[in-house]
Amino acid sequence: MADRMIAPDTPELRARWSSFAWAEENAAKAKEIIARYPEGRQRSAVMPLLDLAQRQVGAETGTQGWLPLPVMEFIARELDMPILRVVEVATFYTMYNLVPVGRFHVQVCGTTPCMLRGSDDIMAACKARGMAKGHTTPDGLWTLTEVECMGNCASAPMVQINDANYEDLTAERLDAVLDALAAGEQPKEGTQEPGRHTVEPVGGPTTLREMVDANHDYRGEW
Ligand code: FES
Repeated sequence: MADRMIAPDTPELRARWSSFAWAEENAAKAKEIIARYPEGRQRSAVMPLLDLAQRQVGAETGTQGWLPLPVMEFIARELDMPILRVVEVATFYTMYNLVPVGRFHVQVCGTTPCMLRGSDDIMAACKARGMAKGHTTPDGLWTLTEVECMGNCASAPMVQINDANYEDLTAERLDAVLDALAAGEQPKEGTQEPGRHTVEPVGGPTTLREMVDANHDYRGEW
């Protein structure tokens, strides 16, 4: 599991991010998000607003985005809530990046089903390309994080890269995905198992194999 420490509060950080405010289109989105919650419950918008802020930071930095402390303070002011509450949320969920990340955030699931299906090989393939857990490669392309179960256990092992999941991976299949991303292409998302569409049994269905073309009345057999 990655460390969940926020970036140090330095003069440089303040100089760069203290003036953070919504871009025009995000101001409209934030308003719409806050309006989803009943009067007096606007603080419930903290998660989508943190996500929106992270995406704006990403757009401003050409990366996948992160949450500098002054940006979290901006969200706290927007929702009139203590900054500590915002930091608590941001540090709990790995979907929020607490330090700068690269253009592609490679999140490798290392929980038991993925581990049993080869996540060690996936992590090794990342390391073979110069990635190190918790770090961004010098070219700014890749940030590697190990995360807990991402809910894709039936097509393990998997990684999430930015907003896309890649599943049924082997080291070779992951290499192909990373090569495509580095080349500016958009590789197929989801399972990488040839012939598999989602999480149906590998090799084809094992139940409900035939289409039924008429109703069978079982009542006389009871
Ligand atoms: S254990 Fe990896 S997705 Fe569930």
